[in-house]
Amino acid sequence: MSAAPQAPVVVAIDGPAGSGKSSVSREAARRLGYAFLDTGAAYRALTWLGLERGVDLDDAEDVVALLDDFPYATEVIDGGTRVRVGEHDVTGAIREPRVSAAVSAVARIPEVRIALNDAFRGMLRGTAAPGIVAEGRDITTVVAPDAPVRILLTADEATRIARRAGELGPGSAASAEQLRERDRRDAQVVDFMTAAPGVTTLDSTDLDFEQTVRAVIDLVERARAGERDAG
Ligand code: DC
Repeated sequence: MSAAPQAPVVVAIDGPAGSGKSSVSREAARRLGYAFLDTGAAYRALTWLGLERGVDLDDAEDVVALLDDFPYATEVIDGGTRVRVGEHDVTGAIREPRVSAAVSAVARIPEVRIALNDAFRGMLRGTAAPGIVAEGRDITTVVAPDAPVRILLTADEATRIARRAGELGPGSAASAEQLRERDRRDAQVVDFMTAAPGVTTLDSTDLDFEQTVRAVIDLVERARAGERDAG
């Protein structure tokens, strides 16, 4: 008799812009042999589609209508995740400043959040990997509140601004203001600066990338060891 297939281990990570959650989550997933779910990419792709179609992104009804035909898909090619909307590869386009500037308006619409969160839960259940690291603003609280590992990755504001400027490269003087503005707008929708009960805060202010990845993997291994002991 074969054992029942184990449900994938869900590692939920959220935190503010510039906390490093995206690159840290991706690398932790790679080392653990887990799948990776970047939920922000879906919000960005929907925003890209709205811009592409000339939709007024402040009109919630028009944005919600986009969901009727939103062929969002991701695929891993050569170890990198490609993001697609229909036949368009939007991996690069969804990181453009015009999308970053507009995405908060889309992410603030409750119907959009409900639809995407449903899709995310399906992706968490459906992964073929033994586990999945999912990152995004309300992953630990709304999408996967029962995940065995839930982490709020933070860093102080100066550190986050410096990291974001480093990612965007020279000439990114506007990045500090953009980051503050995006945090301010996003914080009106989801409180991503305070850990909910049961969520572990990982402050990466004094940690480099490697140390932060290790700290995440450590938390996953401890949770799994705890589960084995309990089971
Ligand atoms: O993590 P990111 O910068 O790619 O996220 C893009 C935007 O989407 C950001 O403004 C926050 C929003 N977002 C969200 O509201 N909920 C999520 N689960 C993921 C992202």
